[in-house]
Amino acid sequence: MAMLQYRVQGMSTGLFGDVRVGGAKNSVLPILAAVCLNDGESVIHNCPRIADTFVSMEILQKIGCVPKLLGDTLVVNTKGLAATAVPDDCVRKMRSSILFMGAMLARAGQVELTLPGGCELGTRAIDLHLMGLSAMGADIKIDGDKICCKAGRLVGANIKLHTASVGATENIMIAAVKAHGETVIENAACEPEIVDLADFLIGMGAKIHGAGTSRVVISGVNRLYNPVPHVIMPDRIVAGTYLVAAAMTGGDITVTDVNPTDLLPVLAKLIEMGCRIKVSDGNISLRAPKRLAACPRIITKVHPGFPTDMQAQFVAALAVAEGKSLVTETVFDKRHQHAAELNRMGAKISLCTDNRNFTIQGVENLRGATVAAKDLRGGAALVLAGLVAKGETVVQNAGYIQRGYESIERDLESLGAKISLEGAEQEEKCA
Ligand code: EPZ
Repeated sequence: MAMLQYRVQGMSTGLFGDVRVGGAKNSVLPILAAVCLNDGESVIHNCPRIADTFVSMEILQKIGCVPKLLGDTLVVNTKGLAATAVPDDCVRKMRSSILFMGAMLARAGQVELTLPGGCELGTRAIDLHLMGLSAMGADIKIDGDKICCKAGRLVGANIKLHTASVGATENIMIAAVKAHGETVIENAACEPEIVDLADFLIGMGAKIHGAGTSRVVISGVNRLYNPVPHVIMPDRIVAGTYLVAAAMTGGDITVTDVNPTDLLPVLAKLIEMGCRIKVSDGNISLRAPKRLAACPRIITKVHPGFPTDMQAQFVAALAVAEGKSLVTETVFDKRHQHAAELNRMGAKISLCTDNRNFTIQGVENLRGATVAAKDLRGGAALVLAGLVAKGETVVQNAGYIQRGYESIERDLESLGAKISLEGAEQEEKCA
């Protein structure tokens, strides 16, 4: 991963123009797991050509399915699903491989995978995934770092999550589709990507109510059919990232093909920082002030609160805003590594001992430097900082960023940035 890097020139003018956002990473990943429930063909449109999509396709291939990506349309034939093990190398590359558990258990009655370790964002427990599946009758054995789950037909259960986990909600929802009886998930995650997954499942015959609320009810069905072709929802985090880039550079852009209601807390903060926002059917326009105002308080929360996946980008923006800001990360226990890298560019960010509270004193200018991405969104934040820094910035470990952005360099260049991707492709160990 170290070889791949972005070279970013500091801008004297703002980003300008229109940019289209592709399909959502955090929607396509659970949906590419859910296709395993069906033994036929699924058609998925607006599929983002990001690294994590290709890892999911690798998993599908290795367990006996046939995925084909033509442009942004993915056609997957899952008739031949034979394996019950999620490939180790894929789990190591992408921890959300765990989303295949529910689907493979429901389809084949058995699934094995290596415990996905922690990653750059912290511990990343999976107790809720396992608790949910065992409540539905799965027999789960953990031997060293291997998990083996077995079940006859799963049985519906009442499951209360101690944390509104996105992944656990998705895994349980998928597993419950063909269970015998009704499953109720209390304190379910409410992210828009959960609604998109539910729409996809309903399109193959599932009976689901309440997706997008904290109480989801899934009534098990006996059979499914080839899903209605599904269009992946727009990626609200990619959209938010480009809006912050325009805000930091004093720019004026329109992001197209997005759903503004998915970004309300983000838009509210951008307005608080002095931006003018206009939304109209599927587009968001932002006109930035000459310099952003600090934002006294940002606290990340589960949806519909301020999204943790936008925290790093806002820390970068607040680093050059006028005044002092306080940002608190409540979802992950280690989503802070971008702070040290931004400080190497001249930012004044101090992090409390709990690694969750950032105090940011805005500075007039950052200076270009060679910095390293430590995770996906932290890496994107460093690219954004490079746009406003004096001089040239090199962001190493670009592979992290490619996991969630189809081509951040193409998109930012189309808005006037000077950015290039350099270095040889390398087998990457991603989180
Ligand atoms: C999903 O991760 C997203 N990934 C993340 O996006 C996103 O940041 C996160 O949800 C929160 O919105 C995908 O959808 C592929 P969680 P997930 O389970 O499901 C704790 C990005 O940048 N927890 O909601 O792994 C966990 O430790 C990525 O696009 C348990 O305690 O997140 C964490 O502190 C990063 N037990 C908190 O819940 C469990 O069994 C939230 O995790 C599961 C989670």
